[in-house]
Amino acid sequence: MTLARESTTRSVGRGSTSFFRQRERPDSSKHAKPILVMEEVYKYFRRDVPTLKNVNLKINRGEFVFVTGPSGAGKSTLLQLIYRKHTVDSGRILFSGRDVARLTKSSIPFLRRNLGVIFQDFKIISHWSTFENVAVALEILSIPKRLIRSRVAEALDRVGLAGRGNEHAGDLSGGEQQRVAIARAIVTEPALLLADEPTGNLDPGLSIDILTLFEEIHEAGTTVIFATHDHSLLQAAPHRLVMIDDGHVIEASQGLRAWAARTQSMVAS
Ligand SMILES: Nc1ncnc2c1ncn2[C@@H]1O[C@H](COP(=O)(O)OP(=O)(O)OP(=O)(O)O)[C@@H](O)[C@H]1O
Ligand SMILES: [Mg+2]
Repeated sequence: MTLARESTTRSVGRGSTSFFRQRERPDSSKHAKPILVMEEVYKYFRRDVPTLKNVNLKINRGEFVFVTGPSGAGKSTLLQLIYRKHTVDSGRILFSGRDVARLTKSSIPFLRRNLGVIFQDFKIISHWSTFENVAVALEILSIPKRLIRSRVAEALDRVGLAGRGNEHAGDLSGGEQQRVAIARAIVTEPALLLADEPTGNLDPGLSIDILTLFEEIHEAGTTVIFATHDHSLLQAAPHRLVMIDDGHVIEASQGLRAWAARTQSMVAS
């Protein structure tokens, strides 16, 4: 099934007075500065079989990269190594030039401020208000209350939830809850957004809406790594595509796109 994205996308808030600075446009030259470098990364959960082996990946500032591969391939693991849920067993990961495994306790705010993470299951607190769910990302960085109010309002505007701050997060629809999670991830203006199957719990139309929202955030200058095995999304957007296959990360060619399209049409028929 190929989704008609024009019919499902909708425009969301792009406040003209936004504090979200328009970042420098991506530099597509080969001299562009990498925001993320993975060098000979190995991760073992079982002693004998590495989940990730010899992963080498470079992502420049301003890129939008899809990460795909079958269930269990290691997509979540790859992202978890970046946001330091796990650490590499060998090799290294440089984020903005810093080795994430070597970040000291005092550098953790650097990671929190510069990385936004979005999950399949939203991970919002349902008995909190929408405002509180987004504000928490700034509170842990000790941002003054007055600033928090305006920044949360802008973030909610950006994800299409302007004026919804007082609502109970648990009362929102699935798509709206994911928008709250995205607002929480972008309210700190991170340089890099990591999305782990962010549309996995949403129906196809909403998935395209959420992809479009990520693209708008990317357009404003944020680097995005979007893990998904949803072929309809991969087909809908012409972004760089890397695939995890047997523990290796492979730069996808047109061949892979054709493969994705073929398997998708087989599923649909
Ligand atoms: N904390 C962990 N402890 C042990 N094994 C793990 C752990 N996390 C992941 N694994 C294993 O690593 C492999 C890759 O898992 P991962 O969750 O990264 O895959 P995935 O590509 O994200 O899959 P899916 O599409 O189902 O989300 C799997 O075999 C999984 O069982
Ligand atoms: Mg996963």
